[in-house]
Amino acid sequence: MHEKFLGMTPPMGWNSWNTFTHAINEDLIKETADAMVSSGLKDAGYEYVVIDDCWSLRQRNGKGELVPDPEKFPHGMKAVADYVHSKGLKFGMYSCDGTHTCAGYPGSFEHEFQDAATFASWGVDYLKYDNCYKPGHMDGEMLYKRMNLALRNCGRDILFSACNWGHEDVWSWIQGSGAQMFRSTGDIQDSWESIKTLFLSQLDKTPYSGPFCHNDIDMLVVGMHGGSNNDFIGSKLGGCTDVEYRTHFSLWALMNSPLIIGCDIRKMTDYTKETLMNPDVIAINQDIECRGPYIVPGHDPAVLMSLVKPMSDGSLAIGMFNLGDKKAEINLPFWDMGIPAAAGVGLEMYNCWTRENEGRFTERYAAVVEPHDCRVFRAKVVMG
Ligand code: GAL
Repeated sequence: MHEKFLGMTPPMGWNSWNTFTHAINEDLIKETADAMVSSGLKDAGYEYVVIDDCWSLRQRNGKGELVPDPEKFPHGMKAVADYVHSKGLKFGMYSCDGTHTCAGYPGSFEHEFQDAATFASWGVDYLKYDNCYKPGHMDGEMLYKRMNLALRNCGRDILFSACNWGHEDVWSWIQGSGAQMFRSTGDIQDSWESIKTLFLSQLDKTPYSGPFCHNDIDMLVVGMHGGSNNDFIGSKLGGCTDVEYRTHFSLWALMNSPLIIGCDIRKMTDYTKETLMNPDVIAINQDIECRGPYIVPGHDPAVLMSLVKPMSDGSLAIGMFNLGDKKAEINLPFWDMGIPAAAGVGLEMYNCWTRENEGRFTERYAAVVEPHDCRVFRAKVVMG
């Protein structure tokens, strides 16, 4: 059995790690599923509720099976999955290709087929598969292929979210493993520096991502505002400004990264909701062709960057980003984007954040952009 369109466009959902790390339980997951519906996130396209590390007991049972921690999940995992499904959502879980997960719980090494069967019996729809405690002599590529084989034979459609942080040139072989998404970076932190670093590190990898196999630049920190319980992720970093979160969301959308929310969605501000649920920016991310963006020449891209993503309807998604620390004008010369003004071709620029049509432009568009801010457009090609 295989659902034909599983993972065709970048997966969208929520994951427990960024905000809660080890502090997860049944009530949190149920309340998160409730919030996914009541806040409008589900209608906006977010689908998966994913439990990350720290959900199991420290030991397998006598049959070698993974056991949910009864203090955190007193009714077991099937009950949690059933609840998530009752809300019209999908349920995700986490394991690891090594002997242990990164937080020291049992990993799936040499238990791949058994664990895939366990996940299927609970009703799991998504598996994030990490890379800690991988025995030194094992080839990571083979282990991801092995787990994918187990998932494809477990009797249930389970989206495979590989997470080896970009090791072993993952982009060059992951598509053949069957994973629908692959983490290409180390862990994100709730800081502007981290957002910028992760984004810039993946610019040369856009050709390796496409329908059914998406480069995952890591989960979103949008709306966290320093709200993690973990020092590394950001409880001590001070978080980002709302403008920085909006730029982060725009970058991830244009890069075709999966959109996996990491904040506490039970407590989102209006600004966070408007950021995460902007239908025009989500539509850019979810375009069925998943064509990678290209950089428009003319500026130092580490400071002022314009990205163009050609959309399947012939329009262009355009992001203009001020990654620098000074207010600056960003210039978008249409010639460099393949738009011949002399032949009477121009762009009708719709601003996705102000949600206003800015009218028709020929030859160029320029905007003064505040530090860490951005403009995102859906531009229709017009003649005459
Ligand atoms: C890391 C992974 C994180 C999170 C964490 C859990 O390796 O990159 O996203 O899953 O492990 O321990």
